[in-house]
Amino acid sequence: MNIIKVKNYDEMSKRAAFIVASQVSIKEDSVLGLATGSTPIGTYKQIINIYNDKLIDFKNITTYNLDEYYDLSEENEQSYRCFMNQNLFNHINIDKKNTFVPNGKAENPEKECKRYDSLVEKSGNIDLQILGIGSNAHIGFNEPDDKFAKGTHLVDLKQETIDANARFFKSKEEVPKKAISMGMKNIMAAKKVILLASGENKAQAIKSTIEGPINPSVPASILQLHPDVTFILDEDAASRLNK
Ligand code: GLP
Repeated sequence: MNIIKVKNYDEMSKRAAFIVASQVSIKEDSVLGLATGSTPIGTYKQIINIYNDKLIDFKNITTYNLDEYYDLSEENEQSYRCFMNQNLFNHINIDKKNTFVPNGKAENPEKECKRYDSLVEKSGNIDLQILGIGSNAHIGFNEPDDKFAKGTHLVDLKQETIDANARFFKSKEEVPKKAISMGMKNIMAAKKVILLASGENKAQAIKSTIEGPINPSVPASILQLHPDVTFILDEDAASRLNK
């Protein structure tokens, strides 16, 4: 486990963008695992800057997003598909046909979950997975539970997650109560994982993830078993770590 401590959000974003840029330049047909939320927005901005400097090319890149709200169509402004288009895909030369997000409108969510898992597996698994973390230590939408979810699955969001994500919606009532999320199998099968965290509200989740026991009540703690995981933490997010 590699821990990089940086000063603030801006430095976290730059460090993460450099890692993504290196991956894309070393392997031009890389498969990237992408996250949403406010944490990676700065990283995506930095990636766009590096792209605009003509240092990286996304022509042959494939991406898989971790999750999507259930029952939101991709046209809905709050959907993670829309988020990805607005914050990254519309600004780089990626072929949108090679960008995958679970279909939140799938009539048969179980079938959609299986389809998503087999797509990821068929592409040879993820080369570099970017993760944020919820204040309850969820990754993707793998919420605290009594077991780790293996495959892509339909999740009942925890009240704390609904509350935390209400800031993106007009009202709390509008926040979807369910989501489709990649499970731990595909996240753990990624060749390299970077987890970004910024802010005091993530400090306890980071401490439990890194220093606590591996337990599904702290979903991100499973990353202790990953052979190549890097945590990029700003001072506030790292503030409760023992060293
Ligand atoms: C969301 C996403 C996660 C994200 C997390 C933290 O619910 N499903 O992938 O990492 O919550 O979000 P934020 O970065 O906005 O704090």
